[in-house]
Amino acid sequence: MNLNNYHMRKRNVYFLTFCFAILQSTILSAHSQIDLRVDVNKPITDIQPTMWGIFFEDINFAADGGIYAEMVKNRSFEFNEPLMGWIQPNSDRHSMNDNSGMATIIKEGTTPNKHFLRIEVKNGNGYELINEGFRGMGVKRDEEYNLTFKAKINGGITIIRFQFIDEKGNAIGEISVSPNSKDWKDYSANITVKTTEAKAKLKITFEGAGVIEMDMISLFPDDTWMGRPKGLRKDLVQLLADLNPGFLRFPGGCIVEGRTLDNRYQWKKTVGDIEDREMIINRWNTEFAHRLTPDYFQTFGLGFFEYFQLSEDLGAEPLPILSCGMACQFNTGELVPLDELDPYVQDALDLIEFANGSIDSKWGKIRADMGHPGPFNLKYVGVGNEQWGPDYFDRLKVFTMAIKSKYPNMIIVSGTGPFSDGEQFDYAEKELKKMNAEVVDEHYYKPPEWFLGNANRYDSYDRDSYKIFAGEYAAHSTTVSAPYDRNNWQCAVSEAAFMTGLERNADVVYLTSYAPLFAHVDGWQWTPDLIWFDNLKSYGTPNYYVQKLFSTNKGTKLIPISSEDQPLTGQKEVYASSVLDEGTKEIIIKVVNSGSGEKSVSIALKGAKKTNKEAKWILLNSQDLNAVNSIENPRGVAPIEKSIAVKGKNIELALPPYSLSIIKVMED
Ligand code: AHR
Repeated sequence: MNLNNYHMRKRNVYFLTFCFAILQSTILSAHSQIDLRVDVNKPITDIQPTMWGIFFEDINFAADGGIYAEMVKNRSFEFNEPLMGWIQPNSDRHSMNDNSGMATIIKEGTTPNKHFLRIEVKNGNGYELINEGFRGMGVKRDEEYNLTFKAKINGGITIIRFQFIDEKGNAIGEISVSPNSKDWKDYSANITVKTTEAKAKLKITFEGAGVIEMDMISLFPDDTWMGRPKGLRKDLVQLLADLNPGFLRFPGGCIVEGRTLDNRYQWKKTVGDIEDREMIINRWNTEFAHRLTPDYFQTFGLGFFEYFQLSEDLGAEPLPILSCGMACQFNTGELVPLDELDPYVQDALDLIEFANGSIDSKWGKIRADMGHPGPFNLKYVGVGNEQWGPDYFDRLKVFTMAIKSKYPNMIIVSGTGPFSDGEQFDYAEKELKKMNAEVVDEHYYKPPEWFLGNANRYDSYDRDSYKIFAGEYAAHSTTVSAPYDRNNWQCAVSEAAFMTGLERNADVVYLTSYAPLFAHVDGWQWTPDLIWFDNLKSYGTPNYYVQKLFSTNKGTKLIPISSEDQPLTGQKEVYASSVLDEGTKEIIIKVVNSGSGEKSVSIALKGAKKTNKEAKWILLNSQDLNAVNSIENPRGVAPIEKSIAVKGKNIELALPPYSLSIIKVMED
């Protein structure tokens, strides 16, 4: 069974939830004033600093081709087809009967980087090789790009010219390098670009005749996040930083499990020298027939060290998820026998040492050698992604026992499988309760109507059991991960309504993250996604702004908000939650109007101290449920700020149709 079957199984719920929503909106849309009461001096619980976080997976070109700013595709010639991504425009690649030369791939040894390129130039006419990048290369006028490569030569070829070319083949920046070593040598040079171009390519021209061998041909913008050489794309990390996330979950998702066990994510192969990191095919490469991406591989230039570093940069708790010895059950479902699970468990223990261990420990030293002597203060480890059935719990118990014996304070994140209800979910819930699980990951990819109808999901959850990590969720406008799913306002506003329910249940819900995070406009496999980008630009979807408004207004204490003594979970199409921020002394109220009519709302701030006479009103709305943002119109749906009067301790406002409002009142 593949993921397509899984998505088909989810379709049936759509019709029913749709009918329910129509009925609900017809009954409840009658216009009337809604009185809200906020009990400012009756805090219910702390809001966890981890409440709103980020889910990162290398899907949709999120890492290679995305946040990892390498511009050369297949730089080390280790793809299954070793010349994939490289074009020889003036050569018959199968013979030397051409006018200038030929590239062949040599395989030597057994190290991860075992292939390199041999260029044989016959007559010195200027043999050319072109790298197409990840659906092109984005370059900006007057900016510098750092070129590095390894080469060895026996004479003959005198100059290698590296040029960015535009779509018409015109050079828009270049540099020439004279290779001069018989042994492998590292070269580095900068190219300045004359014209901005989203789909540039790298053309390499060899002058002279002879043989040269090359490897690790790499190009990065100089201007990366925090200026780190060979680092991350600045605009994309900035969008993450702007979310002020409480945690960073990595590296996924199904990528953790792999389609096969061989294809699972193995963190140890992603640390150390970049050229020694063993590249593998990306599991999303051929997952969806409608979006085949045969050139999608994982180079692991963004590996576990970089994920920890990114978490630290963002001020987010690192939350790695590890394979528990089960390949994706929608694919092969390969299973490691229990008596062969040790290496998997050891990987988890070693990861904790890598993150937190002293520099005298084996893995702590590797971290220090990579430039981070201090610990990363890892507190959470996730065991398995979307696993289900008794096999999972057998393995989870082994991991839990081993981790807790050595690291009693480490918090284990367990899973409930891919579905948020049904037989597998109920079984998981029962087993997790028996095990006294600490934090449990739930996933829901559902229609917008489900989100509107489930804002009370956690109201009835057991308060004496585990805490919830809503680790993957998104409203899907058609069917799950169908090619026509859109990040439209209907989905975003329904998520906002649901998120008031997450916040109202902050005593149970400790971590939450929308999924997936990133998508390249030309390289995606799954929609919807929080942030979209091309090779030059990026934008936050309406869903992004919903996440941002919650996460940058998370507060520190949950306080009650009610209407007629009831929490607001969709009565008269209104949803609400409220928090106090003890640091900024603000009362923060989040209200969603999911209906097509304006709603008059009166908010009474009971028990508030003296307040400012004006409150801040941050409004995110659109009259058009189909509204989306785009590269051309990145802020079509984006928040605007206004002020609103506070009269005595009351606020009167009209909630526009289909809107999320954040109201912030400062206490003196
Ligand atoms: O977010 C995309 C995928 O959805 C994740 O990899 C997986 O966990 C879920 O099925």
